[in-house]
Amino acid sequence: MTDSLLSLRDLSVNFRLPAGEMTAVDRVSFDVAPGEVLGIVGESGSGKSQILFSLMGLLASNGRVSGRAEFQGQNLLALSPAALDRVRGVTLSMIFQDPMTSLNPYMRVGDQLAEGLRVHRGLSKAEAWKAAVAMLDRVRIPDAANRARRYPHEFSGGMRQRVMIAMALLVRPALLLADEPTTALDVTIQAQVLDLMAELGREIGSAIVLVTHDLGVVARLCDRVIVLYGGRVMEEGPAEAMFDAPAHPYAQGLLAATPRLDDVLTPRLGTIPGTPRSGGAMLPGCPFAPRCTVKIAACETTQPPLAAIAPDRRAACHLTKAAP
Ligand SMILES: Nc1ncnc2c1ncn2[C@@H]1O[C@H](COP(=O)(O)OP(=O)(O)OP(=O)(O)O)[C@@H](O)[C@H]1O
Ligand SMILES: [Mg+2]
Repeated sequence: MTDSLLSLRDLSVNFRLPAGEMTAVDRVSFDVAPGEVLGIVGESGSGKSQILFSLMGLLASNGRVSGRAEFQGQNLLALSPAALDRVRGVTLSMIFQDPMTSLNPYMRVGDQLAEGLRVHRGLSKAEAWKAAVAMLDRVRIPDAANRARRYPHEFSGGMRQRVMIAMALLVRPALLLADEPTTALDVTIQAQVLDLMAELGREIGSAIVLVTHDLGVVARLCDRVIVLYGGRVMEEGPAEAMFDAPAHPYAQGLLAATPRLDDVLTPRLGTIPGTPRSGGAMLPGCPFAPRCTVKIAACETTQPPLAAIAPDRRAACHLTKAAP
C-alpha cells in the first residue's frame, strides 16, 4: 500500500527466558492509513501490547524485535534511540493503560503537557502553557486554567486518563497508539473517554491503533480490526464486515461470546472454552487449533497462511474459502 502511514512487515517479538526463547508476536504484518482507526483485539497474552511497545522502543530488556515498521518513510525498528525520541515526541504518541505510569507525580499537570510543546515544537513557556490549558479544556477538564496548576494525584482516575489523552494529542501526532486506555475506569466513563479520544483524533487527523478487549468499542470506533491469537493475526478486515460475518473460528467464538455489540456493558473476551496459549514454543500448526471445535487434521500440523478471503479481508484458517 502506497498511502499507508504505518506499514508493519513480519514484525516478531521474542523473549529470552531461562527455559529458552518465547515468541510473543509472530510475523505480524498490517497497514494503517492516515486518519484510520484500527482496532487490535485478542485475549490476554495474545501479543497486543508487545506490538505497540516494540514500535515505541519500549520492549523489556529480554525482548528482541525483528521485521520492519515503516512509519513516514523510516523503519522505526532501526532508528537510534535519539532519532526514535524525536519521532515519539512529534508524530507518534502513546496512551498507556495506567496513566500514572506516564504522568510524573511531582510535576504540575500543565507543566507536563507544556514540556512536550517546548521541547519538540519550540514554543515559548507562555505559549506552551496556554496551549496546554486549551487542550485540558478540550478534553473537558473543568476549570482547566486552575487545574493545570495541580498535580496528577489531585485528579480522579477518569480525569487523569483525559489528561493522558490531552498530552498524547497535544503534539498533533500522525499516529496515536492506545493500549487499553480505559481498563482502570468504570464502564460508563470508559465509553466517554474513548469516544472523546476518537473524536479528537478525527479532528486532528491522527490515525489511531486501539488495543482493546472490548468488541463493543471496536464496533463503535474502529474502521478496521485485527484479531490476534497466540501472537499471530487470525483475521483482518473492515470492522463492519467482520462483525457481520466473522471468518475465523476464533473470531466467530469471540463474537458469539459477546451478547450485544452496541452495549457499552459488553462483557470482556475470554469466554471461549479452553485456555489461551501461555508462552513456550510455537505450535507447528494453527495456535488456536487446541481450542478449535471445527479443526481438521491439517490444523495441528500446518500453519494456515493469512490469505485474502475478500478484496480487503484476510484470514488464517484452513477452512475459510479464498477470495475468488
Ligand atoms: N519481559 C517478558 N519476558 C517474557 N515474556 C513476556 C515479557 N513481556 C511479555 N511477555 C509475554 O508476551 C506475551 C504477550 O504479552 P502482551 O503483553 O503483548 O499481551 P497482551 O495481548 O497485551 O495481553 P493483555 O490483554 O493481558 O494486556 C505474553 O505471553 C506475555 O507473558
Ligand atoms: Mg496488554
